[in-house]
Amino acid sequence: MDVAVGESSRPSEAERAALRESLSRALPEIPPHYFYDDVGSELFERITALDVYYPTRTEIAILEHWAPRIVERSGCQHLVELGSGAGRKIRLLLDAWPRSQDDWSCTMLDINELFVRQSLARLAADYPRCQFRGVVGNFVHDLDRLGPPGQRLIVFFAGTIGNLHPHERQAFLQQLAAGMGARDRFLVGIDLVKDPARIEAAYNDPQGVTAAFNRNTLTVLNRRFQGDFDPSAFAHRAFFDTHHAWIEMRLRALRDTSVHLRGLDLRLDMHEGSEIRTEISCKFTRERFVRDLADAGLWVDDWFSDPEQQFALVLVRRAQV
Ligand SMILES: C[S@@+](CC[C@H](N)C(=O)[O-])C[C@H]1O[C@@H](n2cnc3c(N)ncnc32)[C@H](O)[C@@H]1O
Repeated sequence: MDVAVGESSRPSEAERAALRESLSRALPEIPPHYFYDDVGSELFERITALDVYYPTRTEIAILEHWAPRIVERSGCQHLVELGSGAGRKIRLLLDAWPRSQDDWSCTMLDINELFVRQSLARLAADYPRCQFRGVVGNFVHDLDRLGPPGQRLIVFFAGTIGNLHPHERQAFLQQLAAGMGARDRFLVGIDLVKDPARIEAAYNDPQGVTAAFNRNTLTVLNRRFQGDFDPSAFAHRAFFDTHHAWIEMRLRALRDTSVHLRGLDLRLDMHEGSEIRTEISCKFTRERFVRDLADAGLWVDDWFSDPEQQFALVLVRRAQV
């Protein structure tokens, strides 16, 4: 079992410049991968078990029903998961793999090293005939670390693609398409547009797990960039933006507060009531997503959804060139 850790865990100048820029906007913004240290990844696992959080349950139900068809239609030999987290859903695809196939492998890429190592150890124990590999990296910058094209099924679960801003999503899809061979396939989970009340409930659980997850990003920034955010001085807020068709998570300052991030050489002065955006999560119509794919040179092979049309798994190939 091989785990490629990538560059130093210390922030590069490019990372520092990007965060400095996003925190200096009129509406300061923290990119969502800063949720996921070991505490944040555990909190996300707790979110997936909440009654109000429909996406995980629904995506698993779709996979339970359609995994054999997905595996068969993809005709692939190598699984690759982006943002693999605890690595539970990939098991449904591994379980559907043809017993006769010997030469199969699975690569798990995530930004959280502990979760990559733990999930790989569990998977390797349970699927001894499959070759596992881990990549600790960023799916926005590290698609070239996934190995060569050819019969790969690259999966991206949980609607995580919706956390990218539309221009970032297009750049991601274009880069992915550029690296895909004619026999590679992409399987992507997307959350569908639905009653805003249902969506908002999923991000405002009464137990406060999502609020803790949201505030944890400040602790991550404190550690990574020598900051002095007081997470208790911020309230969680999540609302559906109908114009953009996305949920937005924010942290609202409960009092005037001045934050110094020494590692960024940045001071952030916030007034009571001012906000930091910590996540968007786009909800899609089928038309919009198919158009986004087509714009990046990708075609839909198959579309799997639940009876209530809450969530979809889309099987995609590169357009013929
Ligand atoms: C919403 S969770 C989904 C986890 C898992 N795939 C699932 O379906 O339950 C997003 C996962 O992507 C990882 N992640 C978020 N942003 C990332 C990035 N830019 N690069 C790599 N991993 C990222 C997180 O660590 C987390 O495990």
